[in-house]
Amino acid sequence: MHRDDEAMPRPVPYEIVIRGRASARLLWPLQDDFTIDTADHHVTRLVGEVVDASHLHGILTHLTSVNLEVISVAALHQHTAATVTGSQVHRRDQENTMKAMVQDTYGSTDVLKFEDIDMPQIKADEVLVRVRAAGVNPGDWAIMCGLPYIARPVYGMRQPKNRVRGTDFAGQVEAVGAGVTRFRPGDEVFGSCAGAYAEYAAAAEATLAAKPVNLTFEQAASVPMAGVVALQALRDHGAVEAGQTALVNGASGGIGTFAVQLAKAYGVHVTGVCSTPNVDLVGSIGADEVIDYTQEDFTRGGRRYDFILDNVSDHSLSALRRLLTPAGALVPNGGRFDNRWFASGGRVVHAHLLKRFADRRLRPFLVSLKFEDLLLLKELIEDGKITPVIDRTYQLIEAPQAIAHVGAGHTRGKVVITV
Ligand SMILES: NC(=O)c1ccc[n+]([C@@H]2O[C@H](COP(=O)([O-])OP(=O)(O)OC[C@H]3O[C@@H](n4cnc5c(N)ncnc54)[C@H](OP(=O)(O)O)[C@@H]3O)[C@@H](O)[C@H]2O)c1
Repeated sequence: MHRDDEAMPRPVPYEIVIRGRASARLLWPLQDDFTIDTADHHVTRLVGEVVDASHLHGILTHLTSVNLEVISVAALHQHTAATVTGSQVHRRDQENTMKAMVQDTYGSTDVLKFEDIDMPQIKADEVLVRVRAAGVNPGDWAIMCGLPYIARPVYGMRQPKNRVRGTDFAGQVEAVGAGVTRFRPGDEVFGSCAGAYAEYAAAAEATLAAKPVNLTFEQAASVPMAGVVALQALRDHGAVEAGQTALVNGASGGIGTFAVQLAKAYGVHVTGVCSTPNVDLVGSIGADEVIDYTQEDFTRGGRRYDFILDNVSDHSLSALRRLLTPAGALVPNGGRFDNRWFASGGRVVHAHLLKRFADRRLRPFLVSLKFEDLLLLKELIEDGKITPVIDRTYQLIEAPQAIAHVGAGHTRGKVVITV
């Protein structure tokens, strides 16, 4: 994907605001690089230069590890977060507000702001969840950027209709609507909502399931989108059966790591395609064969597959179709956003047209998140057939870094935000 320009290029002055007056003992590792202002007893302000995303990650990890609550992080020349004064902190405590990562315009991660916003209201068929962790998907990066343009009537023409990014989450039920029958306050759940990068989210009961008992909130939050796409691709659109052969292109990414494990659970012989550093990972999650795309072009090997899941779009549809057995199925699932009008350079739209008029072996689809699929994934996870692969975790305030990491297009498994 055309997404490598998301990393911070040079040191940037930052202001980090911590709740309360932090003791010098807890802040000593930062003393050389930051000016520390404790004049206001409600907050402590740190001002200094941050070199890159991992430097910021290290600073925030230190603050969290010594139990300091970070209220805001702002790149001073970019106005990425609202400055919080002591009186605002006090007022927030008295109001029905929550922390959230929001955006009011499309663009790079600079458009994201860490703000206090109103808590979501729930409808009769919805559940209010205290979000404990949120998963990050390439779709979050795309909506942040307003890509592809053709999707803007859905997401919002000039700015996103929904200010809060994130769809996948795991957390605890805080309250339920009058029509909700499957959950009650205190239940641990995972699923999908509109606005997961926040302390609270409203989610439809139909897109939630009980959290797998053997997973942490972070692991559970990684499952919904990637797990359900992999499941629907293999089961509903590939109709895979035991003894068949499958190829997963992009096997080390979010969807790929679930697809490889699910294919094995269905008794399929799986070939995974990934880059050199991920060969061991893809083998360790069950792939029978691993092709390193930096060494070998899998479309030239002469092998045939009953099912192909392509998460990358780096080969033409005709090159992929040639790899299918006569009754084989190809799911062109996604890829780059280099073409800003159509995702995957228009390949998925093209595949939809071909499927309709010419080629029944092409099976492009748009995921539809259902709790029945989450329940099946929960069962497979609790049986030990699938284990989420977590690349990195970030704090909520670091959501811009988390989205940039996923946007760079080389995630190892899933990226998760702890809330
Ligand atoms: N159908 C739907 O409804 C639906 C729903 C959600 C998402 N999607 C789409 O599905 C796609 C994949 O999503 P994801 O969450 O799995 O993305 P992801 O986590 O970002 O994974 C992308 C993977 O692609 C691999 N990759 C990059 N270049 C490659 C190449 N030349 N050859 C082989 N692999 C390569 C990367 O592996 P290396 O680091 O090893 O290169 C990375 O692991 C996205 O385009 C997304 O938009 C579709």
